[in-house]
Amino acid sequence: VDRILIGDGSEILVGRGFPAPLLPDRPGRERVVVLGQPGSRPVTARVRAAIDLPVLEVELPDRDAAKELDAIGPLYRRLADAGIGRHDTIVGVGGGAATDVAGFVAATWLRGVEWTAIPTTMLGAVDAAVGGKTGINLGGKNLIGAFWHPSRVVIDIDVLEGLPIELVREGSAEALKAGYIADPELVGLYERSGLDAPLETVVPRAVAVKASVVSGDFRETGRRAILNFGHTVGHAVERLCNLPHGHAVAVGMVAAAEISRSRHGFDADRLRASVERLGLPTAVIGCDAEEAIDLIRLDKKRDATGVRMVLLRGVGRPVVEPVDEAELRTALASIGAG
Ligand SMILES: NC(=O)c1ccc[n+]([C@@H]2O[C@H](COP(=O)([O-])OP(=O)(O)OC[C@H]3O[C@@H](n4cnc5c(N)ncnc54)[C@H](O)[C@@H]3O)[C@@H](O)[C@H]2O)c1
Ligand SMILES: [Zn+2]
Repeated sequence: VDRILIGDGSEILVGRGFPAPLLPDRPGRERVVVLGQPGSRPVTARVRAAIDLPVLEVELPDRDAAKELDAIGPLYRRLADAGIGRHDTIVGVGGGAATDVAGFVAATWLRGVEWTAIPTTMLGAVDAAVGGKTGINLGGKNLIGAFWHPSRVVIDIDVLEGLPIELVREGSAEALKAGYIADPELVGLYERSGLDAPLETVVPRAVAVKASVVSGDFRETGRRAILNFGHTVGHAVERLCNLPHGHAVAVGMVAAAEISRSRHGFDADRLRASVERLGLPTAVIGCDAEEAIDLIRLDKKRDATGVRMVLLRGVGRPVVEPVDEAELRTALASIGAG
């Protein structure tokens, strides 16, 4: 079992079977709320069986439908009706959508109750459930949220190994990203083995990268920004071309690598090859560059610092730098946006 510490006293356990106990000891806990989603049903059933307190189980709508503001109200109502108190615990079982909702509800119920995250997708395990960002959607993604660490994150490698390959591929884009910003060995492993890279090695390494970045910068003022590698262009093409998030991040990393090549001599061909090795896209089809630039500008308006991107001086050597429109255009052209 790998034990990774994050935040103030919160603990991430990675192992096989549930590297139990799922809940830290806590006096006064009387009830446990288990929030699952359709895809995590078998795991939710095991979680429920492993908890020897009365459980209120709620299955959330699938995917981001669970995060819509309108879906959250009825959930609070269920907690109120069941009399869930300040010593009780919320457990989120599922992909990032389920753990985002569980964390947000935990952050806000009675001004904050304890929670545990049990991510059952690769993206959830290496990204969404780690770092204490929780949030729900109001049309736009994650407009409402809170920073609230789970006291425990439990990752079962057996569950992740049973995932459909597409869900592994998508989460692997974020793990590869972790490698490029902070773990050259992880990049090397993916280069050698592609999606055959053992998850019991990949997952703790990717989690450790995120945990270490976040531990130094919980509220995202500085260093945490490096986690956005691939996400500036990624978010734009995700929306414009309707790509799955992991695919968009893969393409976004290629675009950032091209700017990194011209500024810092970064080996963008190597990054491209590693993305292809995972069967992830390096280009988009039918995405308009001007629309992408508009979206990127709009995205950045919120922080009023102009467009800044995470670039690489080398593998594991990220820098955050302002980029101009001409550079963005060249990068978009390099991923086939015309
Ligand atoms: N809080 C953060 O820091 C953070 C970071 C990244 C992403 N996110 C959020 O995470 C969400 C995306 O995460 P996701 O891709 O895990 O999405 P998801 O939760 O929508 O899950 C994807 C699909 O996988 C299914 N599924 C879950 N477990 C499964 C299993 N074991 N086997 C088969 N299918 C299973 C789900 O039912 C769903 O249909 C987005 O809402 C995003 O905003 C949050
Ligand atoms: Zn991402």
